[in-house]
Amino acid sequence: MTLKSTMIGLLCGVAVLWAANAFAAADPSAEPALYSEKGDKTCLKCHDEAPYNSVMHTKHGVAQDPRPPAANHGCESCPGPSAAHASARPPKGEKRPLPAIVFSGPGASSSEARSEVCLTCHKNSARMKWNGSQHASNEVGCNNCHTVHADKDPILSKATEPEKCFSCHSQQRADSFQYSHHPVREGKVSCSDCHNTHGSAGPKLVKAVSINATCYACHADKRGPYLFEHQPVRENCDNCHNPHGSPQAAMLTERQPYLCSSCHSAASNQSGGWFGGKGSLPGGHTQTNYMNNRSCLNCHSNIHGSNSPAGEAFLR
Ligand code: HEC
Ligand code: HEC
Ligand code: HEC
Ligand code: HEC
Ligand code: HEC
Ligand code: HEC
Ligand code: HEC
Ligand code: HEC
Ligand code: HEC
Repeated sequence: MTLKSTMIGLLCGVAVLWAANAFAAADPSAEPALYSEKGDKTCLKCHDEAPYNSVMHTKHGVAQDPRPPAANHGCESCPGPSAAHASARPPKGEKRPLPAIVFSGPGASSSEARSEVCLTCHKNSARMKWNGSQHASNEVGCNNCHTVHADKDPILSKATEPEKCFSCHSQQRADSFQYSHHPVREGKVSCSDCHNTHGSAGPKLVKAVSINATCYACHADKRGPYLFEHQPVRENCDNCHNPHGSPQAAMLTERQPYLCSSCHSAASNQSGGWFGGKGSLPGGHTQTNYMNNRSCLNCHSNIHGSNSPAGEAFLR
């Protein structure tokens, strides 16, 4: 490096430091990063095209509200101070320096860095459990689901939400095409009716504290309590249902009578019953004419529990 270029470098450094002071840079040892003087006007000189400028039509673009980016650092609220990016005149063949946080493409910042920016404004109750959640710890950032520049963020609409989720969750996509499924593709139930994708106290990101509590929100009749409870129902709806879809009616995980016999085996006669418990299947239970049509449900119709004084076997 020549003396001349070192001097120029020093002078530039001094100039930058002086400018940085005007913006009260937080960490004096770090290279100061500056917001561009004219804010959004500067950015729009080059980025006045869809999808970027559409952000002005969203809640983030409402300058009358003191909270959103438009009333704060504008476009630079998310990628961070970008004066160097905006004012650079890179020689032909060289790349323009990018802002501190890059949201997509090969030079994208870590999902943590990308999400942290959003959380400065959005760390409220819905996202209390974001840190350490399944998405946060598997490199999924806010903008892997949210399209903040779009007029209408597709993930916020029941009709378009599933497509976004399916792009990463192909098993649930396949399940949704099964004969019996929650009407998710039909736009009546959304993934987020059952999941809080921002983090949850329950298993598998379900919205409530347990799987059952999540189901009761819409299937209140299954909540009970019943005079006679069917143990696996209380334990977990998942024991018999796949909520994403199944080839069996009512999203059952197995065909009848195998669903029931996976736990209630007629073959356990000799050993005194199933679960070391109450006795064996009464005579006739294995006769094929019992197993036609609705199989075990021909007689045990109140399978989720019974309030009848004679409902011990869920026959009524
Ligand atoms: C002189 C033109 C110009 C100006 C002014 C400008 N940019 Fe850029 N910006 C570009 C170009 C060109 C790219 C693509 C660079 C690349 O891919 O290497 C880009 C890329 C970006 C990216 C990365 C895109 C991504 O995928 O994440 C962000 C963020 C960005 N600009 C924000 C801003 C902001 C904020 C401002 C205003 C402070 C601004 N730009 C002003 C030309 C400009
Ligand atoms: C400077 C603060 C700020 C930052 C940074 C910010 N937001 Fe927002 N955001 C807001 C405010 C304010 C609203 C409007 C809330 C309301 O009306 O209740 C909003 C609304 C939203 C909405 C709801 C939009 C709608 O139409 O209902 C989403 C989704 C969202 N932000 C996601 C993000 C994501 C993702 C990021 C990071 C890329 C981010 N926000 C960064 C302040 C911010
Ligand atoms: C896995 C996909 C996914 C990720 C990742 C994600 N979101 Fe969301 N977000 C959604 C869905 C779906 C909705 C609408 C349903 C709901 O509110 O749960 C939503 C709604 C929102 C809303 C509007 C409703 C509300 O809760 O205020 C805001 C704001 C928001 N997200 C911010 C964020 C922020 C900030 C991050 C990153 C920390 C983030 N989201 C990460 C899927 C996601
Ligand atoms: C960018 C890819 C991506 C998108 C988009 C996405 N997810 Fe995920 N999701 C993941 C990854 C990666 C994991 C963690 C690994 C795993 O369990 O597959 C995960 C985990 C989950 C889990 C927890 C699984 C467990 O084992 O605990 C649920 C539930 C979930 N996602 C639901 C959703 C829903 C609902 C949406 C749409 C609103 C969505 N995801 C969008 C990538 C994504
Ligand atoms: C009716 C409620 C409900 C709906 C709607 C729903 N889920 Fe789930 N999801 C659950 C329950 C309960 C579990 C945990 C038990 C299980 O895996 O069956 C789960 C588990 C998951 C898992 C983890 C699977 C695993 O094997 O660990 C993913 C990923 C997931 N859901 C994604 C989605 C996506 C994507 C959608 C929308 C297309 C969606 N879910 C819609 C209730 C639902
Ligand atoms: C947001 C509301 C909602 C939640 C939460 C919900 N469901 Fe549903 N469920 C529905 C709707 C809507 C239908 C379709 C009813 C119809 O087609 O008449 C349905 C149907 C069903 C069916 C019958 C399907 C058939 O083909 O007969 C089963 C079984 C079921 N849900 C189980 C569950 C389980 C298990 C959970 C918890 C993991 C759950 N649901 C959570 C709304 C919900
Ligand atoms: C022991 C297995 C089993 C468990 C556990 C179970 N179900 Fe079911 N469920 C069934 C069977 C079998 C049917 C089909 C009933 C029929 O065809 O009459 C069914 C049907 C349904 C239906 C549709 C018909 C109706 O009765 O409304 C809903 C909704 C439902 N179950 C919700 C739930 C919920 C919610 C849970 C958890 C609280 C749950 N189930 C737990 C076996 C089970
Ligand atoms: C996941 C395991 C599981 C599945 C699947 C299951 N059950 Fe059960 N069932 C149990 C358990 C555990 C008990 C309680 C046994 C006890 O008290 O000894 C029980 C109890 C019963 C009882 C009452 C027994 C009594 O003497 O009080 C009947 C009747 C019954 N189940 C029928 C069915 C039918 C019909 C099906 C299929 C729709 C079915 N069960 C599916 C585990 C299961
Ligand atoms: C034709 C009607 C009918 C069919 C079909 C039927 N059951 Fe039963 N089941 C009964 C009656 C009645 C009882 C009560 C018998 C008693 O109390 O002695 C009973 C009792 C039971 C019990 C409790 C036994 C006890 O000692 O309390 C279980 C478990 C059971 N059935 C499971 C099944 C399973 C699993 C299927 C399908 C493979 C099935 N049942 C099909 C009529 C039926």
